[in-house]
Amino acid sequence: MAKASEFLEARDLTRSFGGVLAVNSVSFSVGEGELRGLIGPNGAGKSTLFHLISGHFYPDKGSLSFYGGHIEHKSPAARAKMGISITFQAVHLFSGMTVLENVMVGAHTWTKHEWIEASFRLPRCRREERSIREKAMWALEMVGLDGYKDYLAETLPLGRQRALQIARALCGMPKLLLLDEPASGLRGDERRELLSLLEKLHENALTMILIEHDVDFVTQVAERITVLDQGQVIAEGTPDEIRNDPLVISAYLGTAISHEVI
Ligand SMILES: Nc1ncnc2c1ncn2[C@@H]1O[C@H](COP(=O)(O)OP(=O)(O)OP(=O)(O)O)[C@@H](O)[C@H]1O
Ligand SMILES: [Mg+2]
Repeated sequence: MAKASEFLEARDLTRSFGGVLAVNSVSFSVGEGELRGLIGPNGAGKSTLFHLISGHFYPDKGSLSFYGGHIEHKSPAARAKMGISITFQAVHLFSGMTVLENVMVGAHTWTKHEWIEASFRLPRCRREERSIREKAMWALEMVGLDGYKDYLAETLPLGRQRALQIARALCGMPKLLLLDEPASGLRGDERRELLSLLEKLHENALTMILIEHDVDFVTQVAERITVLDQGQVIAEGTPDEIRNDPLVISAYLGTAISHEVI
């Protein structure tokens, strides 16, 4: 199993938008099999940091290594092929497509050459489609949506749409899954279902980083939590250390972090 510094390591990652330093010299590492929490007030830079890891944004400076190799200049497709998957903060579904079809799209990290083969339906592509369908069914079973595979995706309630997003990411057989606020807007029972799904994925040794606003939710699953504020890491530690960290408390301007949504 790769050590933290050999699995995912960010050094001095920095990205600004115009005059806004969204991510400011962030260094941190995540170990293989870990479930890391990533918290911080609105606009702290959490989603930007995810996009720097997934390749949807490139850093202005700094480095990012995955399994010991530099990836900061690789495309999102190349990073997806290496095993980095992301579920976005907003739910993106293909309406008019079934749950199964929506998940199968997640596995299409094809090259241009493979797309040309696919359009001619060559035997290799038919085999590939079969294998994608099998992976998609496995992913739907993992998230408990196999019974809904033929439903139109947009007809599912929010909790199941979020599970569908996770299934889509799982279909690419990731080694690192980035989850951007998967619990946001969910009801109590939906949050409990999500929690047990995260526990199950964690037991299956999938490495995950979870962005979440509700500290109680994060502390139930994450072993360590990294806190961002104004683009910088202000704390990192166990859930107990984070709850009692004065910098974290003041970042939330006196919000009681023990039992409230922050
Ligand atoms: N594409 C962009 N163009 C311009 N500014 C951006 C862009 N993306 C993010 N920002 C700015 O960067 C800062 C960090 O935003 P980011 O979305 O990463 O924060 P966040 O921690 O995910 O916030 P939230 O909890 O609200 O999701 C904010 O000031 C935001 O307005
Ligand atoms: Mg965000």
